[in-house]
Amino acid sequence: MANRIISPSVLSADFGNLRQDIEMLNRSSAEWIHVDVMDGVFVPNISFGFPVMKTLRQYSTKPLDVHLMITHPERYVERFADAGAWSIGFHLEAVSDPRPILQQIRQKGCRTCLTINPDIEVERLEPYLAEVDMVLLMSVYAGYGGQAFIEDSYQRLQQLKQMITYRGLSTLIEVDGGVNPHNAERLFSMGADALVAGSAVFHTPDPERSILQLKGVL
Ligand code: DX5
Ligand code: ZN
Repeated sequence: MANRIISPSVLSADFGNLRQDIEMLNRSSAEWIHVDVMDGVFVPNISFGFPVMKTLRQYSTKPLDVHLMITHPERYVERFADAGAWSIGFHLEAVSDPRPILQQIRQKGCRTCLTINPDIEVERLEPYLAEVDMVLLMSVYAGYGGQAFIEDSYQRLQQLKQMITYRGLSTLIEVDGGVNPHNAERLFSMGADALVAGSAVFHTPDPERSILQLKGVL
């Protein structure tokens, strides 16, 4: 079986009890923690920034998988790396040339990730597949947690997987948005290595159990 990584999105956590939620994730079988950063410009919503990152880094024992939904990611890469990011992803459609930013991320010792919204053609990732550690395929429009999974994402995932396999690359695929126990199995079996899940983890009575369900263990 390929990777079946779960990256719970803390955007859906209880910020009044953030430390408890992080400790729950530490105990859980989730591999990563997904950190959604929104600037109110690239996406309409504003989420959180460095102070929350600091808390996450302080209490979390798991790698922080940072998803920047911001314009000018190059201005913030260093600070997110210094704040404890393990992986840094940014949107291809937010920049004119991703290469210098990928280089910046690499120089800070972080994993590189390129992401695209559902209206961006998968082919646009093609020139960069050999130089990124991971691609993050959005299965909802970036901006909010709790949206419904866009069905067309299966076909996009399949296309992306083929592109990676055809080239003999080991680039990971992460799928983000509307992931739940009903679609997780199909996404993993179609070649997703990692799934982000916000509501399907935090808005359930037993988040640790929900993570196992998403992995297909229960
Ligand atoms: C959306 C974010 C997602 C979101 C996922 O802009 O990138 O990571 O938090 O939340 P759910 O799993 O609830 O769709
Ligand atoms: Zn995300």
